[in-house]
Amino acid sequence: MMTIDKLPILTTPRLTLRRFSPDDGQQIFDNYASDPMVARYVTWNAHTSPQQSSQLAKFFHDGGAGPFQWAIILNETGQLIGNISLVETDADQKNGTFGYVLGQKWWNMGLATETLTEMLRFLFEECGFDTITGEYATQNPASGKVMEKCGLEYVGQDVKMVPAKNNLQVDIIIRRITRTRWYQINRKELP
Ligand SMILES: CC(C)(COP(=O)(O)OP(=O)(O)OC[C@H]1O[C@@H](n2cnc3c(N)ncnc32)[C@H](O)[C@@H]1OP(=O)(O)O)[C@@H](O)C(=O)NCCC(=O)NCCS
Repeated sequence: MMTIDKLPILTTPRLTLRRFSPDDGQQIFDNYASDPMVARYVTWNAHTSPQQSSQLAKFFHDGGAGPFQWAIILNETGQLIGNISLVETDADQKNGTFGYVLGQKWWNMGLATETLTEMLRFLFEECGFDTITGEYATQNPASGKVMEKCGLEYVGQDVKMVPAKNNLQVDIIIRRITRTRWYQINRKELP
């Protein structure tokens, strides 16, 4: 079973995915969490102070949101530009639902696709997950596009309430990828 102290660093050509550090608050605030555009289609509101982001950094570092929480670092500059995580897993860590966020400056450069691909590889090939699910607001097609590019297939639609946003009702699309499909699309033999 994965625990936060065992979470490995993952690398892609342009990015490093690592455990959050308690000192990451200022960068979280400056680079993405304080931007209302970034928070528009996620389940949390834009942060209003760096202290709020610091509390979150400590919470992630300590495993409060579960073990699968990575800070996304842009190798070229060393900046912390976002977060990818499993927001939910079942008890035996076989099925999970993920979330991701990047600062606006870094949108549409293929970075979310690069991040999600590496996280899926790790979860299927190294952790033995069976399915990974993503949910996104119908008004947020860029997120759906990333999931599609990474092989997640349409499962269905739903309506969700967002408690942090006065129970705003949001139409969502659910996409999923299975372990079998991951190995198929990457032309690898299932172990
Ligand atoms: C969703 C998010 C993570 C995507 O990150 P990204 O690094 O820009 O994604 P990528 O560059 O890998 O891919 C984006 C794709 O969406 C497409 N796209 C962008 N805006 C779009 C739109 N309005 N409609 C349709 N497609 C769109 C891009 O063209 C690209 O596809 P392509 O490679 O085929 O051209 C980023 O927009 C983000 O952080 N948003 C705020 C937080 C958020 O909403 N998170 C998701 C919650 S479910």
